[in-house]
Parts: sequence; C-alpha cells; structure tokens
Amino acid sequence: MSAEANLVFGAILDFAGADPATARVLDLGCGQGDLVKALCATGVDAYGCDVSPRWNGSNPRFKQIQLPEYRLPYKDNSFDLVYSMSVLEHAQNTRECFCEIKRVLKPGGVSFHMFPGKWYLPVEPHIYVPFVNMLWPRQPRWWLALWAIIGVRNEYQQGLGWRETVAANQRFCETSLCYRANSYLRDLSIEVFGNCGWPMDFFLSKGSGGMSRIYRKLPLKRPMAWISRHNRMACLVQRKPAQEIGAVAITPPEFASTYSLARLRNPA
Ligand SMILES: C[S@@+](CC[C@H](N)C(=O)[O-])C[C@H]1O[C@@H](n2cnc3c(N)ncnc32)[C@H](O)[C@@H]1O
Repeated sequence: MSAEANLVFGAILDFAGADPATARVLDLGCGQGDLVKALCATGVDAYGCDVSPRWNGSNPRFKQIQLPEYRLPYKDNSFDLVYSMSVLEHAQNTRECFCEIKRVLKPGGVSFHMFPGKWYLPVEPHIYVPFVNMLWPRQPRWWLALWAIIGVRNEYQQGLGWRETVAANQRFCETSLCYRANSYLRDLSIEVFGNCGWPMDFFLSKGSGGMSRIYRKLPLKRPMAWISRHNRMACLVQRKPAQEIGAVAITPPEFASTYSLARLRNPA
C-alpha cells in the first residue's frame, strides 16, 4: 500500500472511527485520481472530485465540481472521510470548501487535509521562488523577476525567458495559490465545524517525506511537529458534529491543539 493510502487508512480508523471495509471516502481535489484507484484496490469505497479533472476517460468514481456554483456533486451526509492532499494552498474559496465538505460529511465524519503551510521554507513548492507563500496575496513583480533572471524555473518553465517566467508566475500566484495562515484556517474551521485539530504526530509518524523520516529518528517530537506545521507540511482535521443545535455546533472547540488526536476521537 502507498504511504498516502496508508495515511488515509489510518485517518479512517483513528479519526473517523470507521471500518475501512465499509467507509465511504472522498478525495477532494483528486487530480489524476491515483489515490482513489489505490484505495479502491484495497477495498475502500473511494471517490474523487476536482474542479479541473485530470483522470482518464469517464469513470463513475470521479466527478467534476461545476463552477462558478461550487457545489460538491454528492448528497448531504454521504462520506465518513473527506481527504485532501495539496489542495488547500490552491483552493481560493476556503470558506465555501469547508462548508461543502461539512455538508457532504456524515454526522461524526471527519475531514483531513495536508498542505504546505503559509510559512513554508525554503521556497514556494510549485514555482521555487522563496517567500512567495509568505508574501501571498502580494507578489511583487521585481521579486519574481529577480529569481527568474537568476535562472529559477520549475519543471514546466524550462527554456522560457525571464519575462515569460515572470508572467507565468504572476498568473499562477493570482489564480492558483491561496496561502492562508494556520490561525485563519483554525478560526474558519471552528466557525464552520465547531472544532479543529492539528494531528502532526499522526501525520509525521506515518508519512513518507523527509520530515517524517527525521521525526521518526529524533527524540524532539514537539519542536519538529511545530516546525513541520508552520514551515513544511501541515495537517488539519475537522469533525462534523454528530448533532447540531440549529446552526451552533455542540462539539466544543477546545481541542484545537497539535496533540488533539485523543480528543478528536472522543469529543466531549
Ligand atoms: C497540486 S494538485 C493535487 C492533486 C492531488 N490531490 C495529488 O495529491 O496528486 C491540486 C488539485 O486541487 C484542485 N483544486 C484546486 N482548487 C480546488 C477547489 N476549490 N476544490 C477542489 N479542488 C481544487 C486542482 O484542480 C488540482 O487538481
């Protein structure tokens, strides 16, 4: 099983408290759909959706999210787990996303997001220009030009002149990036779901990246979790309350901490 599928398996068990053999899982922003296929191969009832479909052919497991309405193409209360990998830093409609995720989650269901944090170092992970994530939503042209002139290009920009690279990067920053601070995501999660957790220990102990490998070897778990959450990949979990009184979530927001796994499993 791939490391990513293994993480989703863990999230089904540990966060959603569901059985992977019967759980319904949605990969939001699934891209080519490889994870959905990998999960289905292990017996998970997985589905994928994206605003820009990149999966091959037609497959009932995959659906396009229609714009500009932005309504996930599923009924209310459909999924045990909504998962996203490297989507929150692109989705420019964070509030709409969270509201729609909540709508399609079953009561007690969980959403689990992994994404590069706003203070990601050393360079923005798509265009490789330092501090672009920190500066977002501003992207000074002179800063993009400096790095383009020095020769910084991503995989799709090889052979481009510096002016074309700057134009491409400026367009990408304006239309395809959305670096929200963790505090913004926490507040919005609490507003929409009534709760928020940052289970970095879960993510780093199961992940396959460089941070995870160091994390497993070194004793300093808490500082490493903090560094990963702020300066590398962050991991955010939200639970749809099992019951709501009107519009007010009854799950208390107090478990908004890095080490909230136990409370997320058993919200008061
Ligand atoms: C970097 S790709 C990640 C794809 C896939 N999750 C993976 O890990 O390979 C980001 C994906 O998020 C999708 N996306 C961007 N904004 C979105 C939104 N508001 N709702 C759903 N998907 C979105 C993009 O179309 C793109 O396919």
